[in-house]
Amino acid sequence: MGRLDRKVAIVTGGGSGIGRATAERFAAEGAIVGVADLRMDGARETAALIGDAGGVARAIEMDVTRADSIESGLTELIGAHGGIDVAVNNAGITIVGAAHDLEENEWDRELAINLKSVYLVSRAVWPHLVDRGGGSILNTASIAGLWAIPDDAAYCASKAGVIMLTKCMALDGARSNIRANCVCPGFIDTPMIKGYFEDQPDPGQARDFAVSIHPLGRLGQPLDIADGYVYLASDEARWVTGTSLVVDGGLTSGIWGG
Ligand code: NAI
Repeated sequence: MGRLDRKVAIVTGGGSGIGRATAERFAAEGAIVGVADLRMDGARETAALIGDAGGVARAIEMDVTRADSIESGLTELIGAHGGIDVAVNNAGITIVGAAHDLEENEWDRELAINLKSVYLVSRAVWPHLVDRGGGSILNTASIAGLWAIPDDAAYCASKAGVIMLTKCMALDGARSNIRANCVCPGFIDTPMIKGYFEDQPDPGQARDFAVSIHPLGRLGQPLDIADGYVYLASDEARWVTGTSLVVDGGLTSGIWGG
């Protein structure tokens, strides 16, 4: 028996990286998964990987910054599978820059995709979770919401916002049996982090440095995060809400000399 049997889940940003691994792990644990992404090629690929492994998934086109797009994606998933139990707000981007250097449109875009989307998707999912007698909202924050990273101001601010929004939703959902939790990953080896390294003056050195600051001696893999999400989405986490699960190879445990 799977740990997520009979649950219907949506994973935003499911076409790549952490979202793909989470969608695959959820399906392997018995969940029916809506793989939502702006990029349908990635979403279809994830759904096909899940189908090939014997799971059930549906690729859903969704722009998490637009309420109408979220609504139509959810309608499609709920129409096909009768309801929803878990939403993973995972879509995100990073735009490198210090606050005094960022353009206003860059700030707005970062905050819209990383933070406003969590509000928009959760608001849209909420009445459907209430209909089921409860459910689980999971948000991908970051260690960048706990520790500042130079030249990454909008990203850090957006992720700190995700951590606090998670706590607010935990309180506001408690009486409806809606749990809200987030995961704070360290540096995870995905297309996004490759882009982040490439934006640095010396990408190779940036990568080596990132490895060196994790006491467990490597970058994280998407599966490291997906396994955390399986726990938080499952009934094993029935008394866990409002928490930030830090999955970072020890990065934020303290000062590490290597
Ligand atoms: P990724 O770039 O591999 O995947 C992100 C996915 O989000 C892509 O498939 C992209 O098409 C989708 N997306 C972007 N904008 C969208 C929109 N408006 N609507 C719908 N989908 C959209 O990135 P990765 O690394 O898997 O990141 C996933 C989440 O994890 C993000 O929230 C990121 O901030 C967070 N995170 C990543 C870390 C890392 O080191 N890779 C560390 C900490 C947090």
